[in-house]
Amino acid sequence: MAGIKIAFDFGTSTVLAAVHGRGVKIKEPSVIAYDTFDDRIIAIGRDAYRMIGKAPDSITVVRPVREGTVYDYDAVEHMLRHYIQKLCGNRIFKPEVIISVPAGVSELEKRTVAELATKSGASKACVIEEPLAAAIGAGVDIHDHTGVLIVDIGGGTTDLAIVTGGCIAVSSSLGVAGKTFDEDICRFARREKDTVIGDVTAESVKKQVGAAKFPDAELAVRAVGKDYLSKLPRSIEISSTDIFLCIREHLEQIIEGIRLLLESTQPELNADILTNGIIVTGGGAMLRGIDEYIQNRLGLRTRCAEEPELCVVRGIDRAFSDRKILSDNGYVFKSYSDIKDFEE
Ligand SMILES: Nc1ncnc2c1ncn2[C@@H]1O[C@H](COP(=O)(O)OP(=O)(O)OP(=O)(O)O)[C@@H](O)[C@H]1O
Ligand SMILES: [Mg+2]
Repeated sequence: MAGIKIAFDFGTSTVLAAVHGRGVKIKEPSVIAYDTFDDRIIAIGRDAYRMIGKAPDSITVVRPVREGTVYDYDAVEHMLRHYIQKLCGNRIFKPEVIISVPAGVSELEKRTVAELATKSGASKACVIEEPLAAAIGAGVDIHDHTGVLIVDIGGGTTDLAIVTGGCIAVSSSLGVAGKTFDEDICRFARREKDTVIGDVTAESVKKQVGAAKFPDAELAVRAVGKDYLSKLPRSIEISSTDIFLCIREHLEQIIEGIRLLLESTQPELNADILTNGIIVTGGGAMLRGIDEYIQNRLGLRTRCAEEPELCVVRGIDRAFSDRKILSDNGYVFKSYSDIKDFEE
């Protein structure tokens, strides 16, 4: 009897894992907290997220993936081991794992991520590039030879890719994403309302009332922070219009990134995008009106995928039953010893 098969999307903001045939089982913030003095792990995922901005000096809270790439290897290994154990329980056989990496990363980086998975309890691991997985998860027939443009707005990066014939034809990655919008909201609160708010509060405000357009009906929430001058707690109101205006400059950078990618694309693929349009995936696709914004600025049909934050993990999961996706792209399952033998 073989072990189970696990798809991992280990992002800057969120860790998602799906067990093949059983759906998405893990959806937690990509955060770990450990003891500053002896490195003992204190909390992982949701529990660690609650400590951001509040932990005492004796506890270090980190996001081990930044801008889509592994920043703290030990932390990622700990987290993968934790989730693999949680999903496998006391099974004897180790699982096979497919894990996503940003498009265009080096072979060394792909090998490092696969190695981390095998060190954390996978019998064999394989990587897949995120925009390809996002396209599959958004329901695109990626074996078809007509191009579709994927805009995956995550926490740390916005990944752009044209996917056709089962492969990524062109791709690029922008440093503007969900976290940038949170920083814009913090800056707005500080400048316009003389109030310092934390990243977690800014993200929560964005999720509740954030918009990439002037709203039909204004939404507003109260956010609690610290008065810049008196340093005392203070509650302020932030509206959808406030957010749209303060993130607009960065929305424009995403538009510019898409424009540049299209400029570097062959005319036949460009023609496909005119027909098939743009699909927005990733948690950032849940920003109200983002599809409308992209469509109006570029004149290209744009839609948000359903459950956009789950597209990558669902796409990875599909690769377990459609191995052509892996073979067409040279993605190969490797055990820990395969990886080590290669390095020697
Ligand atoms: N309703 C919402 N409105 C606006 N933004 C949202 C909403 N829900 C989630 N987000 C944002 O989506 C981002 C997380 O998206 P996602 O889970 O796709 O990122 P990730 O895969 O972890 O990051 P990356 O791909 O950059 O490594 C966060 O910045 C989060 O604030
Ligand atoms: Mg992502």
